[in-house]
Amino acid sequence: NHWCMPLLDTDPAVAHLSHHRQEKYLRSHFTEENKMDFSKKYDISVYLTEEQLNKRIAEIGAQITEKYRGQSVYLICILKGSIFFTTELAKRIDLPMTMDFMSVSSYGSGTESSGDVKDLEHSIEGENVIIIEDIIDSGNTLSRLSKLLAKRNPKSLTICTLLDKPERRVVDDVNVDYVGFVIPDKFVVGYGLDYDQRFRNLPYIGFVEGEIK
Ligand code: IMP
Ligand code: MG
Repeated sequence: NHWCMPLLDTDPAVAHLSHHRQEKYLRSHFTEENKMDFSKKYDISVYLTEEQLNKRIAEIGAQITEKYRGQSVYLICILKGSIFFTTELAKRIDLPMTMDFMSVSSYGSGTESSGDVKDLEHSIEGENVIIIEDIIDSGNTLSRLSKLLAKRNPKSLTICTLLDKPERRVVDDVNVDYVGFVIPDKFVVGYGLDYDQRFRNLPYIGFVEGEIK
């Protein structure tokens, strides 16, 4: 977690502070007017603004509302990256809804949940399940997850992702029903997405431009 330190060496206001204090300083200055300052320290360039994201999310919300009219839906937010997307989308779906949260590990067998995941609280049998993902990269996570959830007999199982990097796909059994944005093969952060647990709070999607080590 020390890769950002050299960037801050040049800022006399914070150069002498400990890493922890530098973080506190940056966070305390992260306001609406100067929010770009925070990411400039880390060389992150804006790729999708909050406005663009929310406009697209509203469109997806309207599509889902139309598709399931007269029924209810069961949103499953995949922690942690999808929390921003899930809450924005949920507010724009005008249907009876249940929300639940699940975390998945990057490893483990194809269809069994392993010990380090947070499972759903309730049965999804007979429900119109919509899996909400932040980003689909190799597709491994969703391939495993959709097999696991399909065994629990939902009425329907739909995949909705904010971002998709199709160039990176290594599986062919993931059918994505709703995609916010197709993006190039570059690492993105913000709007819930992290690099090493950081930058989730950026209100936009950005590319990390500098070297990350
Ligand atoms: P997959 O199993 O390779 O499709 O990986 C999906 C997961 O990898 C996502 O849920 C993210 O947590 C993470 N991920 C993939 N690409 C990115 C990225 O560009 N930025 C941040 N996280 C990413
Ligand atoms: Mg992640």
